[in-house]
Amino acid sequence: MISVAIDGPSGAGKSSMAKRLAAELGYTYVDTGAMYRAIGLYAVRSGKDPADAPAVEALLPQIRLDLGMVDGTQHIYLNGEDVSDAIRTEQISMAASAVAANPAVRAFLLQTQRDLAASRNVLMDGRDIGTVVLPNATVKIFLTASAEARADRRFREQQAKGEPVRYEDVLADIERRDYQDSHRAAAPLRQAEDAILVDTSDLGIEESFRLLKKTILTHL
Ligand code: DC
Repeated sequence: MISVAIDGPSGAGKSSMAKRLAAELGYTYVDTGAMYRAIGLYAVRSGKDPADAPAVEALLPQIRLDLGMVDGTQHIYLNGEDVSDAIRTEQISMAASAVAANPAVRAFLLQTQRDLAASRNVLMDGRDIGTVVLPNATVKIFLTASAEARADRRFREQQAKGEPVRYEDVLADIERRDYQDSHRAAAPLRQAEDAILVDTSDLGIEESFRLLKKTILTHL
């Protein structure tokens, strides 16, 4: 089986590029961030503080996650409910980052993620895929861009949707999540030693995609 691990900070364009590339290569795209988001959502809905590790751990036996494809797009189901849209809010982004620091949550998801890669060719994106989940991945990519470049892209996206946002707030949010994701004790965000660095700070979407695709294809 072929596995492509794509790790990197939030807002680097991992999921949109990984999704598109998986479709081109005919691989299954696995968005591991969606799994942490679904657990964050469950914690919030249960009235628990996502940063309260024992409280979140106690919820895990009540959680069943399933992934499915609808029209070529990955959907995630939380106890049978399609929560693919509900997990995409800023509140749930922060909740996901908090539950992702919890070792019990990481252990809960690890086997599911490995099982997905054992039976099919996958392109898996996350923070610890090359370092922890799939240490023997066929190709490992660390996809990044400067915090300013990522904030700029997100700011424009939100503006285009007509959302009232301030660039400083978007940048502060990105920096806070970067810090939280890379300073936690359990599987922190870091580049695997054998991962190839792809930095898209100075590239547009199409150029970034072409660079990522070329890098992966030359290492498969
Ligand atoms: O990629 P994303 O923004 O959907 O991820 C949501 C959160 O989950 C993010 O704060 C980091 C965490 N995460 C993680 O710790 N490990 C992964 N493999 C994927 C995501």
